[in-house]
Amino acid sequence: MSAGQKLLNWIDDRFPLTASWKAHLSEYYAPKNFNFWYFFGSLALLVLVLQIVTGIFLVMNYQPNAKLAFGSVQFIMRDVDWGWLIRYMHAIGASAFFVVVYLHMFRGLIYGSYRKPRELLWVLGVVIYVALMAESFMGYLLPWGQMSLWGAQVIINLFNSIPVIGPDIGLWIRGDYVVSGATLNRFFSFHVIAVPIVLLALVVAHIIALHEVGSNNPDGIEIKKHKDANGIPLDGIPFHPYYTVKDIVGVAVFLIIFSAFVFFWPSGGGILLEPDNFLPANPLVTPPEIHPLWYFTPFYAILRAIPPMFDSQFPGVVVMGASIVVLFFLPWLDRGAVKSIRYRGGLYKLFLAAFIISFLTLGYLGMQVVTPMNTLLSRIFTVPYFLFFVLMPWYTRVDKTKPEPERVTFKH
Ligand code: HEM
Repeated sequence: MSAGQKLLNWIDDRFPLTASWKAHLSEYYAPKNFNFWYFFGSLALLVLVLQIVTGIFLVMNYQPNAKLAFGSVQFIMRDVDWGWLIRYMHAIGASAFFVVVYLHMFRGLIYGSYRKPRELLWVLGVVIYVALMAESFMGYLLPWGQMSLWGAQVIINLFNSIPVIGPDIGLWIRGDYVVSGATLNRFFSFHVIAVPIVLLALVVAHIIALHEVGSNNPDGIEIKKHKDANGIPLDGIPFHPYYTVKDIVGVAVFLIIFSAFVFFWPSGGGILLEPDNFLPANPLVTPPEIHPLWYFTPFYAILRAIPPMFDSQFPGVVVMGASIVVLFFLPWLDRGAVKSIRYRGGLYKLFLAAFIISFLTLGYLGMQVVTPMNTLLSRIFTVPYFLFFVLMPWYTRVDKTKPEPERVTFKH
């Protein structure tokens, strides 16, 4: 027996190393028909690691102090060796995270991956999404630029509109009457420690839940229904080496696109790095137009679409909150006979297309200045966004579905 084997046996007697490797990689049987849409889970893991590693290096030179924060970011950009690269990777990584996660969620929608038995996996995913929103919102305050300050001011003020307890909640979040150094300190603390720990724990739970029920696939059928004499799914292949190798292709393509932005177009035309955030935060000068980064703008457009009542923005806040909370209920709203879009009827496709078009249009409108036309359009597009969910129990039931195949379809 080699020394390596002896060491492994020694560890295995004390820790389930080989057993875990087998359970989660070499003997985790995934459907053999994964396609392009199945790249984004592993890419989300990659971006998570990138954000943590670049974040660790940023903290080495960043100063969480209202007087020093903006300057310390300039110091990182100009004087710290490779600081510009680390900072651009982190700032653009945040946008990349949302691109990847949105595509990952879209895959869930088209293949019905949220349906039984994967409800909890989906719910954990939505909690991850909310945690990710909190993480990026708080991270955006840290460079202490104009948009950092005013963006946070606008969003935290939304809490003020909650009847009775609102103003106290706003005060409690800020730690001051306005967004100030106290807010910066607590957001820093949450951004670098609290939320990342929660995110990591949630991602582990997400993957444990996935491995408990097994992956869905583009046909939306359960591979566990057909097993060989050894209990191995006939349409399954070991995750390692087959999908580890496939995922490396996704990683390579992702890194090429990501690098193109980091090295050649970090500002993304003012969408990834906003022009106003190149100016130091100034509580006395309000920027002409305040809006969050692109990944929040669909919800921001919904907020602005709802007219205030008695001078209060509360109705908008409730509807915006509902547009996110409704995601949790998806597994129980869908009554379709089949999971995958391949076998759904025209109605589901119509509602899904309307939902995606509204989400993208709202995202665009949320970035624009407020005009009567933009407000009207935001109102119009908010309707199909909600109809997708509200009418789902009806249109998924009456939709003319095609019969699902018994076994997964796969062409070499
Ligand atoms: C940090 C963020 C996330 C990470 C690292 C992550 C990771 C993963 C991984 C590695 C997989 C397996 C590979 C794959 O199916 O692509 C997976 C599957 C899945 N994830 Fe996520 N995920 C994240 C966020 C989310 C979100 C926000 C949702 C939904 C709201 C979600 C819902 C799902 C579902 C439903 C599956 C099973 C898909 C299927 O089997 O067809 N995930 N996730």
